[in-house]
Amino acid sequence: MSGHKDLYQKFVRYLAQTSDEPIGIVVDRAEGCWIYAKDGKRYLDFISGIAVTSIGHRHPEVVEAIKHQVDRYLHTMVYGEFVQDVQVALAEKLVTILQEACKRAVGKSEWGWQYYPTNSGTEANEGALKLARKFTGRKKFIAFKNSFHGDTMGSLSVTGREVYRKPFEPLIADVEFLTFGDINDLERIDENVAAVICEPIQGEAGIIVPPDNFLPALRRRCDEVEALLVFDEVQTGFGRTGKWFAFEHWGIVPDILTVGKALGGGMPLGGFLARQEVMRTFAENPPLCHVTTFGGHPVCCAAALAALNFMEQENLPERARVMGEKLKEGIKELAKRYRSASRGKIVDVRGKGLMLGIEFETKEETKAFVKGCLEKGLIVGGTLHTEKVVRIAPPLTISDEEIDWALKRMSELVR
Ligand SMILES: Cc1ncc(COP(=O)(O)O)c(C=O)c1O
Repeated sequence: MSGHKDLYQKFVRYLAQTSDEPIGIVVDRAEGCWIYAKDGKRYLDFISGIAVTSIGHRHPEVVEAIKHQVDRYLHTMVYGEFVQDVQVALAEKLVTILQEACKRAVGKSEWGWQYYPTNSGTEANEGALKLARKFTGRKKFIAFKNSFHGDTMGSLSVTGREVYRKPFEPLIADVEFLTFGDINDLERIDENVAAVICEPIQGEAGIIVPPDNFLPALRRRCDEVEALLVFDEVQTGFGRTGKWFAFEHWGIVPDILTVGKALGGGMPLGGFLARQEVMRTFAENPPLCHVTTFGGHPVCCAAALAALNFMEQENLPERARVMGEKLKEGIKELAKRYRSASRGKIVDVRGKGLMLGIEFETKEETKAFVKGCLEKGLIVGGTLHTEKVVRIAPPLTISDEEIDWALKRMSELVR
């Protein structure tokens, strides 16, 4: 039994820490919606490794696809040079899914999307920003306050929280931050702007869904000034919000889409997608101006292809919508009792699909709720830019029984 404590000490000693308060579960194994710790406890995963394990942990079809690929080839060449069947198959699948989503959103079916694979979400955004500058020949970027786009220099430059940017300045200079959801602010997007980068639903800001007219107005403004619209769907993509992509909720389509997290079915894979004429700009003047060694690793592509096939077979976006409604209703019920118990209040329960946020009145109450859930075997978390919101993002495969189990644990905390 003391073995896992030893492991924790070594984790603190040998691995660089990102905070003084890691969650600290010592993982033994994970299966479906559950994580099993070395001390014998089990946890229902209600954050999915932050919106990654949307099809659950170690999905058998993903594991099988990985094994099959490992037996054929691993890395053979940097991205873009060799034809790797599994990479081509994934790109075709992803583009097909995206074209169908675009058709549902605006009715047009031919888009000529192409996929450029990356290892992570932040690299996807780096690629999108570079692509926008090179394609438009313009310098400026517009982003939104309280956004999160990743921690490399470019993505950090468009991340809307000064406390995280300041220590690393100078960053990209030409970035202006607008208020997310404020239509009047959109006037500030002008002909100098290469791209506007935006999460359709802000995740780290505390699960912020914009007013219904905001994103269509943003799309119109970008068209007026011929700025590219980049939707960062690293967190919202692949069914999380009850649609394949969040942009479908608003009947609009971006010029560049960035993806990551759930795409790889638990393996590291991201990427950006754009129309062929836009993407072409990376292949010329000069060629090889944006390359990657490992982006689109064949094992990750195999895992992603299996994950996408499963999401499609099971219609997981629709499942996320239905289960999300059930869960949201359950939490709203709980919120009423929370109020009547006159502890710190729950002031809002919001989100779409299985991307939900519970906003508390105080940060102490938020912290106590997260800790209380964890003690009861339920993993929920916070979001980066606020201390008053609890993030709820279970696998989209979550069952009715598991949702009931979680609601029961939460309601024990209310009592
Ligand atoms: C909206 C969004 N964009 C980008 C990223 C960065 O992704 P990664 O951590 O894979 O670099 C995240 C990560 O949380 C995210 O939520």
